Amino acid sequence: MIILRSKAEIEKIRTSCGIVAEILDRLVEHIRPGVSTWDLDAISEELTAKKHARPAFKGYHGYPYSLCASVNEEVVHGMPSKHRRLKAGDIISLDYGVVLDGYYGDAALTVPVGEISEAAVELCTVTEECLYEGISRAVSGNRLSDISHAIQDYVEKRGYSVVREFVGHGIGQHLHESPQVPNYGPPGRGIRLKAGMVLAIEPMINAGGAEVEILEDQWTAVTRDRKLSAHFEHTVAVSENGPLILSKRKNRFTKRFG
Ligand code: MF3
Ligand code: CO
Repeated sequence: MIILRSKAEIEKIRTSCGIVAEILDRLVEHIRPGVSTWDLDAISEELTAKKHARPAFKGYHGYPYSLCASVNEEVVHGMPSKHRRLKAGDIISLDYGVVLDGYYGDAALTVPVGEISEAAVELCTVTEECLYEGISRAVSGNRLSDISHAIQDYVEKRGYSVVREFVGHGIGQHLHESPQVPNYGPPGRGIRLKAGMVLAIEPMINAGGAEVEILEDQWTAVTRDRKLSAHFEHTVAVSENGPLILSKRKNRFTKRFG
């Protein structure tokens, strides 16, 4: 069942998303060589507590941390570790969610650590751009897979591949609600989008092949070929006036590179 949210509910989701966006912006300020992903998790917890919110991922299906911090070939669900210290040239995907007053927000971005390669810049740029392509199709009257298709088309035309094993999702009173939002597929399929639907759109894009595997920790997803992967996510409401990005941040990857 896909729930249509009232304006008041969307404002609650926006509040949670605003907290997530602010925390991601703050985390970005801490990204530099030598910082551990554990430190980032601790910072996110502290900032969440200050907002009187609760981390959405902690305890979700047994996930033990607040933040997902996925470095280089890690696609998603990278677990914070004291031993994982960032180094110049890395890229790190930060995925964060909170719940406040019963409503969830969820967002992610990939950021450079110091100087990164041209190839890494390009991957992150295309991943952020394809998210915005998908968001532009989150319009009342479109079909769900119009979002999926726009993302896949944009990415594959540029020589990258779309991860299939993880998808976006409806969000509201649960982190994951109906419908699933794949980042691939033919256009014109699936439910018709309506004002009041709230979707977390989150393409995960690989520099090499699309295949992923899960490490022994049972969480960290990595590219099978160990090439780089990037991830951007926004929580978006379908409205009468087009898509509303509820998790807007200050940091846009592409702007960081002019
Ligand atoms: N943004 C991710 C998602 O929506 C993060 C979930 S991580 C988990 O699926 F630990 F909560 F599973
Ligand atoms: Co999500």
